[in-house]
Amino acid sequence: MRVTVIGSINSDITIATDSLVKPNETIVGQSDYILSQGGKGANQAVAAAAAGATVAMVACVGDDSFGESAIADLKKSGVDCSHVRTIAGASTGMAAVLVDKAGNNMITVAPGANGRLGVDDIHAAEALIRASDIVLLQLEIPTAAVEAAMRVARAAGVRVILNPAPAPAGLPGWLDQVDILVPNQHEAAALGGAAAGSSAEAAAERLITAGVGTVVVTLGGDGCLLAQAGRQRHIAPYAVDVVDTTGAGDTFCGFLAAGLAAGEDIGDAVETANAAAAISVTRARARESVPGAADVAQFRAQHRRAADSLRKARA
Ligand code: ATP
Ligand code: RIB
Repeated sequence: MRVTVIGSINSDITIATDSLVKPNETIVGQSDYILSQGGKGANQAVAAAAAGATVAMVACVGDDSFGESAIADLKKSGVDCSHVRTIAGASTGMAAVLVDKAGNNMITVAPGANGRLGVDDIHAAEALIRASDIVLLQLEIPTAAVEAAMRVARAAGVRVILNPAPAPAGLPGWLDQVDILVPNQHEAAALGGAAAGSSAEAAAERLITAGVGTVVVTLGGDGCLLAQAGRQRHIAPYAVDVVDTTGAGDTFCGFLAAGLAAGEDIGDAVETANAAAAISVTRARARESVPGAADVAQFRAQHRRAADSLRKARA
């Protein structure tokens, strides 16, 4: 069960605020800032490893202390970093994250070295990509690298999962190279919503017509939608107390990739990803919120038991 994640590595500076900042406004946060590991690529790699997959990352960092500690943290989480390139004179990606009292966030990323991940990096990792069960991508790196990675993977029969975050404007021409697309509601609307109305169902249908095999729209506190040609299934959310939703989508994608790499059916893998992501929103920050496979199994068993006792009480 090999997952190769090709994507970003960031350091996150998080400030907790009562409410999110508006344009031209200055607000004072609740306390000190927190510096933690982040980046959609790295978060998803750590989540896939936590779910039990053998994970390698293709990425770039700067030759600063942030890059050094990011690589150390990834290695500690079991992620193979042989294809993480350190670029002399570049800065490691940095994300400014604001989180409000309700757990909502606003994120701005300075890509730094992530913006230098090139087609040559993909060529250097061709053997790794070909030996993978799943290649997992996001859009915090240059599109040329994403397209090159998809080409190598598809030519070798390796399944491609793309989390289209941040969302590109409009439908990219290469969408038909994606086996499983995992947008959130905003990304689904940006990619497939304009001509089809604003519902996740309509956006998913348009994306499937554009050539994507499977679309999984994550719906935040509403769970997610699994859509394939001619059928759609809504997966209900878990009722949890939300602390911070940062990285929920990353946990979802990492667990989904690991499940599929292990040979699970898409429905089962989505169910597990939905539970893992629900746990992640009960914890602060992106990386620290990723649960282990055992946490997820226990959480699902407890919720089944809760549902069973509710059914018995009603009978
Ligand atoms: P982020 O960008 O904050 O990392 P996202 O916008 O990519 O997240 P969401 O759609 O917000 O992704 O959430 C991903 C998944 O996390 C959902 O499909 C769901 O499984 C879980 N989730 C998110 N919010 C909640 C919530 N309030 N209650 C239960 N589960 C949630
Ligand atoms: O998805 C959350 C991540 O988005 C953060 O860790 C931040 O680095 C940005 O890439």
